Amino acid sequence: MSDFSYEFSRLGLCDLDDLVDLEKICFPHAWTEQQFWLCLKQKQYYIFGLKKKGELAAYMSFFNVADEMEILKLAVHPAHRLKGLGKRLLGLVLQNCIEMGIEQAYLEVRRSNTAALVLYTGFGFIQTGTRKGYYPDNKEDALIFSLDLMPQ
Ligand SMILES: CC(C)(COP(=O)(O)OP(=O)(O)OC[C@H]1O[C@@H](n2cnc3c(N)ncnc32)[C@H](O)[C@@H]1OP(=O)(O)O)[C@@H](O)C(=O)NCCC(=O)NCCS
Repeated sequence: MSDFSYEFSRLGLCDLDDLVDLEKICFPHAWTEQQFWLCLKQKQYYIFGLKKKGELAAYMSFFNVADEMEILKLAVHPAHRLKGLGKRLLGLVLQNCIEMGIEQAYLEVRRSNTAALVLYTGFGFIQTGTRKGYYPDNKEDALIFSLDLMPQ
C-alpha cells in the first residue's frame, strides 16, 4: 500500500460509535453496540483499527487466551477496499501478536467469502477443518484456518 496516511492504533470504548457504524456497513448480521461493549470490557479482547484523518476505515478484533488468538472480525470500509488496507491491518496486528508472545492464530470464515479467503491464505493461513452448515442464516459451511506465528 503506497498510502501511509492511515493511523494504526488499539481501539477502545471511545471508538464504540464508529465501530458500530462500520460494523453495520460491513456485515449483514452486525454485532450490536452491547456486544462490542461487553467484549471491550474484557482484557483478553483486542480491537485494532486504521483511521484516516480521524475516521475509522478498518478494524480487526481478536481474543487472546494463553499463547493463542482467535480472529473474530476483520472489516474494511467499502470505500477503502482493494487498496491493501486489509493486508496492512492483518500484518500489523499479527506482528503485534508475535510481540505479545502469541504463537498460534485461528479463525473461521464462510466458504463463500472469497475476499477473506484470498487475504488469509496470502498470509499463510492453512485450512485445518470444516464446520458443515455452521452459519444458521444460510447453513453455509465455516472453514477453519490456523497460522503458526512462531515457526521453527
Ligand atoms: C475481506 C476484506 C477485509 C478485505 O479487505 P481489503 O482491504 O479489500 O483487502 P486488500 O486490499 O488488502 O486485499 C487483500 C488480498 O485479497 C484480494 N481481494 C480482496 N477483495 C477481493 C475480492 N472481493 N475478490 C477476490 N480477491 C479479493 C486482493 O486482491 C488481495 O490479494 P493479493 O494479496 O493477491 O493482492 C474486505 O473485503 C471486507 O471488509 N469484507 C467484509 C467483511 C468481511 O467479510 N470480513 C472477513 C470476515 S470477518
